[in-house]
Amino acid sequence: MSENPKIQKLRETKMKSRQGGGAERIEAQHQRGKLTARERIDLLLDKGSFREIDAFKTHRSTEFGLDSQRFLGDSVVTGWGTIEGRLVYVFSQDFTVIGGSLGEAHAQKICKVMDMALKNGAPIIGLNDSGGARIQEGVDSLGGYADIFLRNTLASGVIPQISVIMGPCAGGAVYSPALTDFIFMVRNSSYMFVTGPDVVKAVTHETVSFEDLGGASVHAEKSGVCHVAADSEADTLYLVRKLLSYLPQNNMEDPPFVSTGDDPLRMEEALDRIIPDDPSKPYDIKDVIHLLVDDGQFFEIHENFATNIVVGFARLGGHSVGIVANQPAVLAGVLDIDSSEKGARFVRFCDAFNIPILTLEDTPGFLPGTGQEHGGIIRSGAKLLYAYCEATVPKITVVTRKAYGGAYCVMSSKHIRGDINLAWPTAEIAVMGPDGAVNIIFRKELEKAEDPAQRKAELVAEYREKFANPYIAAERGYLDDIIEPRETRQRLINALEMLSNKRDSNPAKKHGNIPL
Ligand code: HXC
Repeated sequence: MSENPKIQKLRETKMKSRQGGGAERIEAQHQRGKLTARERIDLLLDKGSFREIDAFKTHRSTEFGLDSQRFLGDSVVTGWGTIEGRLVYVFSQDFTVIGGSLGEAHAQKICKVMDMALKNGAPIIGLNDSGGARIQEGVDSLGGYADIFLRNTLASGVIPQISVIMGPCAGGAVYSPALTDFIFMVRNSSYMFVTGPDVVKAVTHETVSFEDLGGASVHAEKSGVCHVAADSEADTLYLVRKLLSYLPQNNMEDPPFVSTGDDPLRMEEALDRIIPDDPSKPYDIKDVIHLLVDDGQFFEIHENFATNIVVGFARLGGHSVGIVANQPAVLAGVLDIDSSEKGARFVRFCDAFNIPILTLEDTPGFLPGTGQEHGGIIRSGAKLLYAYCEATVPKITVVTRKAYGGAYCVMSSKHIRGDINLAWPTAEIAVMGPDGAVNIIFRKELEKAEDPAQRKAELVAEYREKFANPYIAAERGYLDDIIEPRETRQRLINALEMLSNKRDSNPAKKHGNIPL
């Protein structure tokens, strides 16, 4: 029997829509070392799970020759599929079609899947590779971006939103990724900036390359715009899959439990030896994290930005947790502008998506200096404080060593609704470090002393004995227990399970006014 011609035509049309901008442009895309929109979707999603919609949609503009450039599906591929069997929505901009530029039809396609993701409570992932607002479509392009920005904002805190930058992302277009929860970038083939090198040259007379202005390394290390950077498109998409394994589908769900097989009662004797005898000596908090969490697996966010604080996801006894840890190996773990903002944003993400927060504390406090004061450390430090105060998810804190000054209060202390606050016997909790404290409270005595250096050493030792320990805080009940480092893992898992039905809330309000 011969084929029904209408079915045949449908097949041919669908085949055509899958060819994007045509073989030549696909070849050019590959020549640049970049995959096509569809190849990327195939790598991101479970094999064969992608269901495309709006493959027939085209733009309706006839301006400046666009009537001869009508491509089925326009310059973005949209639909849904699964990652490890869990539903996600996706849009993937197709650079082979009019440079992936965004006009009315392109924006409507993205908005449609965003609306579906929000209504059905599943993450939305955007693969960005675009020349930005389609110049020929004028205000319809600008309006299209604004329609997306609105949806990004309304979906914030309801479903996880992930942006992957896989080519150019310039001008106002950067603000959609910036409104989402996580930005992934591919090294050497993606860039983000508000104004490109030509405009920079004209305005500030600086000469700068695309890469140095807005490449993945710049944003992963200096600006903090990028949360995760990887060397290839395949690696980047793999990491997106991995991140999602820690996250719930939406704000009404708990994160997925995954049985890892790692013994929840595992003792780690190495932790007993990890804190150096000399309190001014550094150690790497990531060693502590790796020893504590299931199978040593830690998914770090902002790995190379503000490295004096470490944030990321892991599992403890199979439960997903967000970890915030001061890093004594970098600037002694001090809190500064960037690390405060990095920590604050992470805490708020975890709180929005029901992910318990584990805080590992070892910080001498906030960084002094005119640079920090004039840069607004008061404003930035307040963000971290605000984020911890407002968070209602289970909050567990372990003070491994220093908890000095305001940092004691900020880093999930009992006073700001820490649920379980533990300390190692090496903890030092005081208004300030022994040196500074003795200089202030014994200034007159030291001025008069026969041997000021000797007297100071005695006073510092006395102060350390009296204040630089966890026992006074435990006497007051500000710490729930002082524990041996080796038993930390089992204590944390026990606490997480005890807190698994925790319910807490904040006063009813439209929204708070976090010091932005
Ligand atoms: C229409 C565009 C386009 C755009 C690229 N193209 N960007 N068409 N509108 N914004 C087309 C090109 O004309 C070309 O078509 C094809 O896409 C591929 O582009 P090339 O320039 O050949 O590619 P390449 O050399 O790789 O350069 C890529 C690029 C460059 C760096 C992105 O195309 C570029 O600078 N584009 C303009 C970027 C920009 O300024 N966009 C507006 C940003 S402002 P042909 O048929 O010749 O191959 C913005 C505002 C958002 O987005 C506002 C939100 C509030």
